[in-house]
Order: sequence, then C-alpha cells, then structure tokens
Amino acid sequence: MLILNKTAGVFSKPSKRNMYEFLRSFNFHPGKLFLHKLVLGIETSCDDTAAAVVDETGNVLGEAIHSQTEVHLKTGGIIPPVAQQLHRENIQRIVQEALSASKVSPSELSAIATTIKPGLALSLGVGLSFSLQLVDQLKKPFIPIHHMEAHALTIRLTNKVEFPFLVLLISGGHCLLALVRGVSDFLLLGKSLDIAPGDMLDKVARRLSLIKHPECSTMSGGKAIEHLAKQGNKLHFDFKPPMQRAKNCDFSFSGLHHIIDKMIMQKEKEEGIEKGQILSSAADIAAAVQHTVACHIAKRTHRAILFCKQRDLLCQSNAVLVVSGGVASNLYIRKALEIVTNATQCTLLCPPPRLCTDNGIMIAWNGVERLRAGLGILHSTEGIRYEPKCPLGADISKEVGEAAIKVPQLKMKI
Ligand code: KG4
Ligand code: ZN
Repeated sequence: MLILNKTAGVFSKPSKRNMYEFLRSFNFHPGKLFLHKLVLGIETSCDDTAAAVVDETGNVLGEAIHSQTEVHLKTGGIIPPVAQQLHRENIQRIVQEALSASKVSPSELSAIATTIKPGLALSLGVGLSFSLQLVDQLKKPFIPIHHMEAHALTIRLTNKVEFPFLVLLISGGHCLLALVRGVSDFLLLGKSLDIAPGDMLDKVARRLSLIKHPECSTMSGGKAIEHLAKQGNKLHFDFKPPMQRAKNCDFSFSGLHHIIDKMIMQKEKEEGIEKGQILSSAADIAAAVQHTVACHIAKRTHRAILFCKQRDLLCQSNAVLVVSGGVASNLYIRKALEIVTNATQCTLLCPPPRLCTDNGIMIAWNGVERLRAGLGILHSTEGIRYEPKCPLGADISKEVGEAAIKVPQLKMKI
C-alpha cells in the first residue's frame, strides 16, 4: 500500500488511518471487473503535473491535471526548481484523482507509463521517482515514454489513423516534423535549429507585456498573441519568414524574435512609452508575428509532404498530416496548414485542444500502444534514468536538405 510523504516527495509507510483512507478511496466499486488492460500514465516533463487511466480500447477512464502556467506567467518563464517543487506538491494528489475518477484501484492496472524524456531534468525526475516507487510497490510493468512520441500518437486515440503518417509537433519546447511509421518507428525530417515557436511567441508576448492586457492576463503567450492578433492588421508590419533559401525542413525562430524585439523597441520610442507599457500597435505586431510564424511552419511542412511523396514514404493521395503540441491549438496556424494540405491532397488532423497540450491521457495512450505492440515494457526498472535531451527517431534531415525540393508558392489568404 502506498502513501506519499508530501514534504519529502517519497513514499513512506502509511499510518493506520491513512491506510484506511487510501483503501476507502479506491473501494467504491466492489466487484467491478475490467475486461480490458488498463494503463496509468504520468506526465511531469515540463510544467504540467498530469495523470490518466486509459484502457486498451482507448476509453479514458479518469484523468487529472495541475497546470503551473499561472505561477510561471508571474515569474516570466519557467524556473526549474519552482516547477520541481510544484510537481512534488501535486503529483500524489493528481495520480490519486485520476485513479479515483477512473474507479480503478492500483492493483487493477496492467502497467504504469511515465514520461522519462525529453524535458526539464528536475521535472522529469519527480515523475520518474514517483512512478518507480509506485511500480515497485504494486509490482507492475513500467513503460518509459518519450514525450514527443506520445504527442505524435495521440491522434490514434481520437481518430482512426493508420501508419505511416506525417506529424508536425509545435509547442513551447519542441518543433519537429517526422514521419511516423510505427509506434516507435520515426523518421525525423526536420527540427528547429534554435528555439521552438511557442517559446518565441511566449517571449514576444512577454516583451509586449500582454500579461498586463485585461483580455490576456491569464493566457499563455501563444494564446495571447492569437487573441490579440484578431484585433490587429498583419499588413502594418512586414516580417520576412526565416530560412527562405534553405531548402530543407528545419525551422528557426530566434532570428525572427530578435527582429521583432528591435521593432518593438523602435515602436516604443515612436509612441514615447516605457518598456513594460502596452503599445498601441501591439495587436498589429501580434497579427504580423502570427502570420510570419504560420507561413514559416506551412512552408517547411509543405516541403516535408513533397519529400515523403517523392520517396514513396507517404501515400500519393489521402496522406495524413497530424499537427499537435500547444501551438497546434492556434487556429490561424491550422488554417495556414489547411491551405498546404488542400494543395497536396492530404488530410489535416489535429487532436482536440486539451489533448494538444501536455496531459496524462497521451502518456497512458502511448503506454497502451506500446503494450499492444509489445514494445519497451520493463519488468525491471534497474538503471532507468530520465533523459532531458533525446532525439525522436532516425534523423534524415540532411537527406531532406540534399533533396533541395522547391516548394511552389501558395497564396496564404487566411
Ligand atoms: O505542448 P505545451 O502545452 O507544452 C510544451 O511546450 O511542451 O505547449 C505550450 C506552448 C506555449 O509556448 C504556449 O504559448 C503555446 O504552446 N500555445 C499557443 C497557443 N496556446 C498555447 N501558441 C499559439 N497559439 C495558441 N493558441
Ligand atoms: Zn508537450
């Protein structure tokens, strides 16, 4: 039986009373029989503490999440020790809530799946050590999860999508294009050479002080930019999409970020306002930034589709492009991608917004996928470590660049 010692962040033997309460919390459905295998997923790679129980047919039986966004918004970014402390404070409650909501007792689980890579070391460590103690006490198999693999496979929980398909993952920490050939069989076509688009949007939103904007104060940077962009005119600024000459599928956002930073400084001078006050042109800047980011992402994705079709890696008609990660909830960027998929006879699929951002369901589902395929199920966890950096699949981005595919110009009328 397990109980987490909250301050130490480790399990300790529960008192009789705690034991009783713990048992009682899982004993509300005596005699219920689960016909399908059940996986508990645990996610702590960045700033969300999340857990979920999913069965092998894809039914989500219970989930819980604690988001740290509000805390990190106040400090202007994630401070890893703060994220670690918040994970420690919440992980037991979140796992317990997910299990309680699912009406599954820990002993009924078939396996525990946990994100171990990539992510913030201090955050990954909390989820991993919690999981290892759980696995040890319950004597269950452990399935280590690659966070980006989980994002990529989420679509197979919500839609009937067969391998292979193309995936674009765009979030605050990641930016990549990959061909998904199987549960753990990925070809990496391109990635960001510097920062991720969500990171850039967060930085621009911070520089524009959107947290002080009455309509955006509780939104993530990317969401605030999308919200404000609706009120702005993208034609008032002309930012050029990055890497126009590089005929590969890599991305870059930090050059664009610096250009925008300079532009904001210039506008502050023109408007005679201090850094920290909101520019009257903030909405126009947001609209132009969002448009440039959308065009850059669309162009690289277009090239990836053409490359895969040229090499017969994807079906010529009816290929699927899956877009996921926090930035995928941006409807403007989705529309830009829709223009690309319409022009290339592909189908664009996105998981629902709550499954695009970090969550426990995608980790549990990745566990189910691996359980069904018999891949990476550990019966001993000796030597298992978290990995803050970890590429996804086989990197063929050089080959993609050597193919130097010219992408036809599309009208980005969004
Ligand atoms: O996937 P996610 O929850 O966490 C990781 O980064 O792994 O993504 C969070 C990122 C943040 O950078 C946030 O600003 C961005 O996704 N984001 C958005 C939108 N909603 C969240 N970016 C653009 N438009 C949005 N609507
Ligand atoms: Zn993520």
